[in-house]
Amino acid sequence: MKVSISASKKETAKSFSEYLSKLIAKNTMLHVALSGGSTPKEVFKELAAHFKNRIDWSKVQFYWGDERCVPADDEESNYRMANDYLFSKVKLPSVNIHPIKGENKPEEEAIRYAGLLEAKLPDHNMQPQFDLVILGIGDDGHTASIFPHQISLWDSKSYCEVAEHPETGQKRVTLTGAIINNAKEVAFLVTGENKAQKVLEIMEKKGNHTSYPAALVAPNTGRLNWFLDADAGKLIEQS
Ligand code: 6PG
Repeated sequence: MKVSISASKKETAKSFSEYLSKLIAKNTMLHVALSGGSTPKEVFKELAAHFKNRIDWSKVQFYWGDERCVPADDEESNYRMANDYLFSKVKLPSVNIHPIKGENKPEEEAIRYAGLLEAKLPDHNMQPQFDLVILGIGDDGHTASIFPHQISLWDSKSYCEVAEHPETGQKRVTLTGAIINNAKEVAFLVTGENKAQKVLEIMEKKGNHTSYPAALVAPNTGRLNWFLDADAGKLIEQS
């Protein structure tokens, strides 16, 4: 496990962007699953501003770890956020973008997307393997779109499941633990003081960590990386 703590959200985005740029450079093709939320938006802005010509975007295939079941032009769409802040700013072939189709029937889309992953991703342990899965952690300990009240979705035999936001009831399509923990690299991108307690409990397996889906992220053979800002990392001892 590798932990890097940066001074601010912006510095965390810079640190992660450098890591991503190096990963892309050393691979012929990198299969990456994106997450939604405010932290990845900072990363997209950093990549568009300072890595536009430093990265060969034709070497990256973009997927999602989760998507809201809304149309692609909806302001809630994780695809729209990535497109507005990154894809539309860099020379990325559109064939390299594999959105979860939020406008489809959720149950059908979960099946379609799982099939797409099996078709597009290389195999490891007879399962599709991402080179990198980017994840956030919600205030309640959710990750991707697996929330505490549906933590059993993590252990689904399917690679994708339909989840529901606990407050809004919004339907989501999410990757499950089988594929997340099969990744070569997983990167937690976590910023903000409101995450500090969860980061502590998850990292040190304390408190209510067993009720947090994010605590179930443990790559089978891959590496877990944490990219934190000082606020999110303020309770953990730096070894
Ligand atoms: C989503 C995200 C979600 C996110 C966390 C953290 O679709 O909402 O995938 O899991 O990663 O809620 O979001 P922040 O980066 O805004 O803290």
